Amino acid sequence: MSSAAVLGPTLAFLAELAGDGQALEFAIGTGRVGVPLRERGVPVMGIELSEHMAAVLRRKIDEDFLPVIIGDMATTVVPGEFTLVYLVYNTITNLLTQDEQVECFRNAARHLEPGGRFVIELGVPPLRFLPPGQVAVPFDVSEQHLGFDTFDLVEQILVSHHLTRDGDDGRYRRENSRHRYAWPTELDLMARIAGLELERRVADWDGAPFTRDSAKHISVWRKPT
Ligand SMILES: C[S@@+](CC[C@H](N)C(=O)[O-])C[C@H]1O[C@@H](n2cnc3c(N)ncnc32)[C@H](O)[C@@H]1O
Repeated sequence: MSSAAVLGPTLAFLAELAGDGQALEFAIGTGRVGVPLRERGVPVMGIELSEHMAAVLRRKIDEDFLPVIIGDMATTVVPGEFTLVYLVYNTITNLLTQDEQVECFRNAARHLEPGGRFVIELGVPPLRFLPPGQVAVPFDVSEQHLGFDTFDLVEQILVSHHLTRDGDDGRYRRENSRHRYAWPTELDLMARIAGLELERRVADWDGAPFTRDSAKHISVWRKPT
């Protein structure tokens, strides 16, 4: 995700939407996207829940150059108006209820100037890989790592399980993470609730068309002028 092949088109897409304005990254993490976007000349601010992640970012770039506020992206308000708010790398799914995800859209809209855009990068829920009777969908079966997803279809919760081999002693470390998955059309309704309109949906940062077989989408909603 940090390779030039991934970041190049991501930064070009976001920089064009930011135009001459400021960008706000929700869940900026260690600045994988925010730092190079700032270095490209786009003024960027970030909101991040984890002080630890923000501390790693801070080792890369000065506070004056890229301010980060510690807080929840669904509720934290930062000063200023933005032409672009963006939330990438499936991170809307870290909000585990529909209410929190709606609040996140509202918070994005709150920070946008009229005509500004909210951009989300998100995988399409991989439910076509879950036939009736099967409880898990593997996504990686390799020597060092076993990864599979399990689903609560009622609550729209996906749990990603990882078993990772650290050394040569045959032992595996187990980790998992919970996510609330949502279809693109559900996000469009959340956007409407927040007063935003769908402007564009593509399958990747290069702008490939979004189709029934797309594994992910980049969606752009606009705040009306
Ligand atoms: C997968 S990382 C993505 C980081 C960065 N946006 C990127 O693309 O590399 C997810 C980040 O979301 C942060 N996060 C999770 N829930 C959050 C919330 N409710 N508000 C703000 N940040 C959150 C995590 O601490 C973590 O840094």
